[in-house]
Amino acid sequence: MFKKCKFGISNLQPLHMNYPYQIKSLEQYHAAYKKSIDTPELFWNEIAETFIWQKKWDKTLDWNFKDPKVEWFKGGKLNITENCLDRHLEKNGNTPAIIWEPNDPLEHHRIITYKQLHLKVCQFAQVLINNGVQKGDRVCVYMGMIPELAIAILACARIGAIHSVIFGGFSAQSISDRLEDAKAEFIITCDGAYRGAKDIPLKAVIDDALIGNKTVKKVIVCTRTRTAVSMIKGRDVWWEDEIKKVESQGLELVTAVSMDAEDPLFILYTSGSTGKPKGVVHSTAGYMVYTNYTFVNVFQYQPNDIFFCTADIGWITGHSYIVYGPLSAGGTSLMFEGIPTFPDAGRFWDIIDKFKVNILYTAPTAIRSLMGFGLGPVKDHDLSSLKVLGTVGEPINEEAWHWYDENIGKKKCPIVDTWWQTETGGVMISNMAGITPGKPGWATYPMPGVKAILVDDKGNEITEKEDGLYRGNLCITQPWPATLRTTYGDHERCRTNYFATYENLYFTGDGALKNEDGQFRITGRVDDVLNVSGHRIGTAEVENAINMHAGVVESAVVGYPHDIKGQGIYAYVIYTGSHGQDTHGTGDMVRKDILQTVTRIIGPIAKPDKIQFVSGLPKTRSGKIMRRILRKVAEGETSNLGDTSTLLDPGVVDEIVKGML
Ligand code: WT7
Repeated sequence: MFKKCKFGISNLQPLHMNYPYQIKSLEQYHAAYKKSIDTPELFWNEIAETFIWQKKWDKTLDWNFKDPKVEWFKGGKLNITENCLDRHLEKNGNTPAIIWEPNDPLEHHRIITYKQLHLKVCQFAQVLINNGVQKGDRVCVYMGMIPELAIAILACARIGAIHSVIFGGFSAQSISDRLEDAKAEFIITCDGAYRGAKDIPLKAVIDDALIGNKTVKKVIVCTRTRTAVSMIKGRDVWWEDEIKKVESQGLELVTAVSMDAEDPLFILYTSGSTGKPKGVVHSTAGYMVYTNYTFVNVFQYQPNDIFFCTADIGWITGHSYIVYGPLSAGGTSLMFEGIPTFPDAGRFWDIIDKFKVNILYTAPTAIRSLMGFGLGPVKDHDLSSLKVLGTVGEPINEEAWHWYDENIGKKKCPIVDTWWQTETGGVMISNMAGITPGKPGWATYPMPGVKAILVDDKGNEITEKEDGLYRGNLCITQPWPATLRTTYGDHERCRTNYFATYENLYFTGDGALKNEDGQFRITGRVDDVLNVSGHRIGTAEVENAINMHAGVVESAVVGYPHDIKGQGIYAYVIYTGSHGQDTHGTGDMVRKDILQTVTRIIGPIAKPDKIQFVSGLPKTRSGKIMRRILRKVAEGETSNLGDTSTLLDPGVVDEIVKGML
């Protein structure tokens, strides 16, 4: 019987699983850390041995950061779904793998045990095979947060197809670019998705994305909202019909395809400081070992804990800590379709109470937004099941940290502040719940296997303190198992983006502080990447989208501090279009048109919060935009703009300051 019989279902089983590599004390952390740095191969070998392999690896690690080349467990054969599903069946088949809570609290939740999930993944893997998907093919997944999304990606992994999940907030144009970059031949989508009070017509967006596309052969459509969709003969098929065919064929148990340790598991597109998003590629074995290890240690997961990560599977957090980390650990992962404020701001607390959630992992932006509703929505919910809280995605301000600690954790739950990136696959710097000390605003200690250093602009390690702290650009000196392996179709881009700024170092793009004890505090991006509500957006990407708008001559985008989103997007735009006469009046209609263009080109998540029309941008004689000045004005600074003498036309600065929004 499941320990608390929480859901009125009596045949659920408790989890029988132990994690021999789970760190239990501060001393053990220090010992594990030392071992991982002194003898990384020995350290990761022992952890990797606890997984199911079809063939053991020949070489634990081979690497250089010059090419770059990173290979873990080379020669090993495995399938990640055997580790996430099959290996739990015998003892834990009736343990809940996924608990799913719908957008609308009046709709019934779903509980999917390991046995059921295994069957569903096998069936859908057969659907993929029936539709011609083969090992190595790229499958784009554009779905809402329903269990079928997890099933779809696991089914891809089962047959060795490479999934590329695209977040539901991206536009047709963004999808089209990603389809083309990955040369994807298959799409899995839904008719629509529920998100708060909205219905998002996913299939219609896919149809737009497919105009002119030459690579996609099949689109599999899962029913969720049952909005009307156009199903094109020969190309589009219904998920449910395809499952029925598999059932009637009696083809149900797809053997897991044998994968090389280094075979790509997935592509996930993310923004950088220049141009179009890049397809970050993660490998099979290293990613599996690392997400499992960090899941078990950072959150101190105990068998039968209910783990609730509020992220969307469209982002790396969802890949690693809704799907692969928890499932490879035999854990119970709670997946939520909706948003924190629908139908009211008590939604998270309601879910925690309903399912007796033990671990909550969310973003500072969500905490700040919920803080704004006061304690009313928290009050009537029993949150006593919570043991551990976590944050991810951006630096957490102290006010939000204390609110989370006092009102949600009731001062008895450790808060893990987990710093990592799409490229790192799993948590890199974080305290371990209840094991290593936490500190508001600090991510604290690196994970075992992660050697983090701070360097100056020339790449020299910072050895002098400023006001008692080391300050510099955050780099990693050696590979960890979930290091990104390449950027899809363009290895050189991977090298120049991450491994060329400083010789022999992986550069994160973040700035950080370090104290005498070796604990880190992340201060934010030092490149032209914005972090808006925990979503990563490149300034160049937004500028390109704005510049597509007829009448826009040029634009410059910077971030500014935003109370809830962390960072807001501030755009300076030179506009001379025929509708531009009103730009020095209100310009409101033109602003709306520009927002519409950005929504079309990238998606609503990239819409600027403020648009200021200007007649010129502050440029140096060599034509470089001085963003430093624009950032200061966006922050509300009107004097102390620094040296403007190198500007081609210092006069534009006065105009910009006068027109500040
Ligand atoms: C960037 C990576 C990691 C999953 C979600 C975001 C920022 C992430 C923290 C944190 C301060 C953080 C960094 C990083 N970031 N976590 N705990 N404290 N900053 O993944 O979209 O790849 O963004 O998010 O700036 O570089 P991502």
